[in-house]
Amino acid sequence: MPESTAKLIDGKVYAERLLARVTDEVAQLKANHGLQPGLAVVLVGDDPASQIYVRSKGERSLAAGMHSVTHLLPADTPQSELLRVIEELNADPLIHGILVQLPLPKSLDERAVAALIDPDKDVDGLHVINAGRLATGEPALTPCTPLGCMILLRETVGDLTGLRAVVVGRSVLVGRPIAQLLLQADCTVTIAHSKSRDLPAICREADILVAAVGRPRMIRGDWIKPGAAVIDVGINRVPFDDPVKAAAGRTKVVGDVNFKEASQVAGWITPAPGGVGPMTVAVLLQNTVTAAKRLAGIEA
Ligand code: GUN
Repeated sequence: MPESTAKLIDGKVYAERLLARVTDEVAQLKANHGLQPGLAVVLVGDDPASQIYVRSKGERSLAAGMHSVTHLLPADTPQSELLRVIEELNADPLIHGILVQLPLPKSLDERAVAALIDPDKDVDGLHVINAGRLATGEPALTPCTPLGCMILLRETVGDLTGLRAVVVGRSVLVGRPIAQLLLQADCTVTIAHSKSRDLPAICREADILVAAVGRPRMIRGDWIKPGAAVIDVGINRVPFDDPVKAAAGRTKVVGDVNFKEASQVAGWITPAPGGVGPMTVAVLLQNTVTAAKRLAGIEA
């Protein structure tokens, strides 16, 4: 393999910077307005990866000086009980942001849950009102991972005007909202997905390629336009390449992009893990501050 040519986008650096800004802003809101932004995170069930994410959201909120509440509910929680918890949080004046960790157990209806969250406390940006606000360019609470990707692109590529952006994946949580954000940034946007014909050719047109499909290392080096910015949102667990470790059942996290190949061709690339992931929590806290300010009538 030749030397890597792509510049690495270290999400941890940008996430720490954002967390520092959020921490400052929380201190100012407390000092100047007596307002402490509060975030409630709800986890149903005992998925180990979700437990780690939820713990980190609580710890980071506290570290930023915010009020933090975590509701841990058993996997067999009935829909009615989950909805009751959300109604309670909607009515709680100390809570400005509500996040229900996904995926929910199969017995629960994610859409009904998202629909019940007060849109002005919907720091995940999953309520149809926020999706509509985003699509029409009104001030919205915007899903955290897509907003994190945009911060990384602005910090590295800079002005995105007129660039060709290809988003691979059309999920409500990532693919669709990031396409909207890229459009707002005056990119020419294509949303590709599992049914797209000749995906490699579509990807090769991209100055900005966002991979959010959930298929390990699917995007190959020869799908990438030389010099492109590649944002890998994928978090996929796969067996180790080393057969001894794989035989022991050990797994590791890889992205949707074949990093080894892609980093020979791209201009910028996020590692996975360590690229987009760290941004998500930082943006969640920023969204909670934004929600708190709007709810309190303080200029955002
Ligand atoms: N699970 C993985 N990512 C997310 C996210 O951004 N929000 C929620 N609610 N659940 C997730």
